[in-house]
Amino acid sequence: MASLQSSFTVLATKPTPNPRLSQLRARRSMVSCSTSNGGRVDRRNMLLGLGGLYGASSLVPGRTARADPLLPPDLSTCDPEGAYIPERLNPDGTVNTPAIQLDVNCCPPYTDTITDYELPLFSQPRTRPAAHRMTPEYLEKYEEAIRRMKQLDEDDPNDPRGFTQQANIHCAYCNGPYDQVGHPGVDIQVHNSWIFFPFHRWYLYFFERICGELIGDPTFALPYWNWDHPDGMHLPAPFSVGYSPLYDCNRDQRHFGNAIVSLLPGRPGAIETNLNQMKEEMINQSVSAITFMGKNYRAGDPPPGPARRGTSERGSHGGVHVWTGNPKNPFNENLGNFYSAGRDPIFYCHHANVDRMWTIWESLPADYIKAINDPDYLDAAFLFYDEKKNLVRVKVRDCVDYKALGYVYEYSDIKPWLNYTPPRREVPANVQELTKTAQAATQAFPSTVAETITVVVPKPAKGRADEVLVLESIVTDSTELIAFDIFVNDDKNSTDEAVSPEFAGSFSQVPHRSRTAETPSDLTIVLKELYKNINIADEDDFVVVTIIPRINGEAVTIGGIKIVPLAAAT
Ligand code: C2O
Repeated sequence: MASLQSSFTVLATKPTPNPRLSQLRARRSMVSCSTSNGGRVDRRNMLLGLGGLYGASSLVPGRTARADPLLPPDLSTCDPEGAYIPERLNPDGTVNTPAIQLDVNCCPPYTDTITDYELPLFSQPRTRPAAHRMTPEYLEKYEEAIRRMKQLDEDDPNDPRGFTQQANIHCAYCNGPYDQVGHPGVDIQVHNSWIFFPFHRWYLYFFERICGELIGDPTFALPYWNWDHPDGMHLPAPFSVGYSPLYDCNRDQRHFGNAIVSLLPGRPGAIETNLNQMKEEMINQSVSAITFMGKNYRAGDPPPGPARRGTSERGSHGGVHVWTGNPKNPFNENLGNFYSAGRDPIFYCHHANVDRMWTIWESLPADYIKAINDPDYLDAAFLFYDEKKNLVRVKVRDCVDYKALGYVYEYSDIKPWLNYTPPRREVPANVQELTKTAQAATQAFPSTVAETITVVVPKPAKGRADEVLVLESIVTDSTELIAFDIFVNDDKNSTDEAVSPEFAGSFSQVPHRSRTAETPSDLTIVLKELYKNINIADEDDFVVVTIIPRINGEAVTIGGIKIVPLAAAT
């Protein structure tokens, strides 16, 4: 009870915009099965005030004139309350409280000795196996590693290798407790940009080495959740066993067993939908390094908005987060919210496959250069604790060659999605007819996606030109789970089919906290394959776009919509 009290004290120091909330707070109850560390109070909750509450977001500076790589955080200024998830009232008056409400402080232990990390030599790379093919012996290794990490939570909560500390790293880099050095009031955010892949690669690298260290096996490699292959499109079996350390009750209970994962956020899982999604994000929509990796993010930039993500991050990556998290929890914990995602042991297997997608994308032939050579990308830096508890600084440039990091992936066939062909239609839609129920794009925006939006959008060229659909200036409530889908010339209401020729793409957001307003972002969708699939008529110089809300469409605003030539958008 002492822990409850002190956490309430912390909460009480926050300004409370809604007086009903504070009344409700006193009566709130824990979400059942809510925490892996049971509401243990973190000593750093007591440090309130030391970290300081930073000024209003109006202090956010504009872009620095000189381009700069993102700097690593200053751990001494980590704000213990920075990742705090605000409570909200539901329309029915009930209160929404984070499932892991007592411990959203995710500041790491403080050390003032930082060394530049040097990649150790290795003789044999570690091989990351596909989780659904793990042998019982291999499974036992990952179980034992997680068991020992969780034991460290109990034995020494300040050991940076403990499970909660490891999970907190993710929270710290995406939920607001760090300001960028030299830019007070501007959060560090490792999602929604080109540093997404490298940050998570380093994060898994150290997590994997810590696992190996704790079980005394330097060859240990993280299993990957092979969700891009039909055989791996379900929660790997060992993770559903109630007494296993790999079990997490903060998952969608309907998705244990054989339920098919959904790589398309907000849509029911189906193999065909998933294969189509993989082909789209790995090939059709990846028309430059930036479209796959994510857009730029430099020192001083406000946190990027979600449409700055690359195709993989916004697709399968987000889909698996959303599908796994528990929609009955107030903030979709665990996997469905960035503050809590690292508390589910499946996170590391999910992200191993995300990382594998980066390696596969690099190996696929394309007519553009796969590397990003901008020094602001290559020199972006992060801090991690290594397996010996040393605080180390790493740079993006040192992880772009994953083989130098000493691991490889066990082979798994990618042909199911590589060779996937979506359904195509013979007869083009009658666009004149469709426009009767549509508004002109110029009149319809800005608009939320609370309701279906149907608009007529002019094309710069006729028929099957190389063009891109742009949903401009998307602004979201970052704390909300959001998903909507986009269809083009859908004259037969095919919006619930697993894959329809008219399906153009989707937008989604995994909820997270952002103290600084995120940069409004443009979602771009390459239309080349879609024009083929819908067999667009040669003379058509406009299309009808339908935007269908899937989850919380009222929490997102689209500023405008247009079609531009591909060259103008990449
Ligand atoms: Cu940092 Cu999948 O999230």
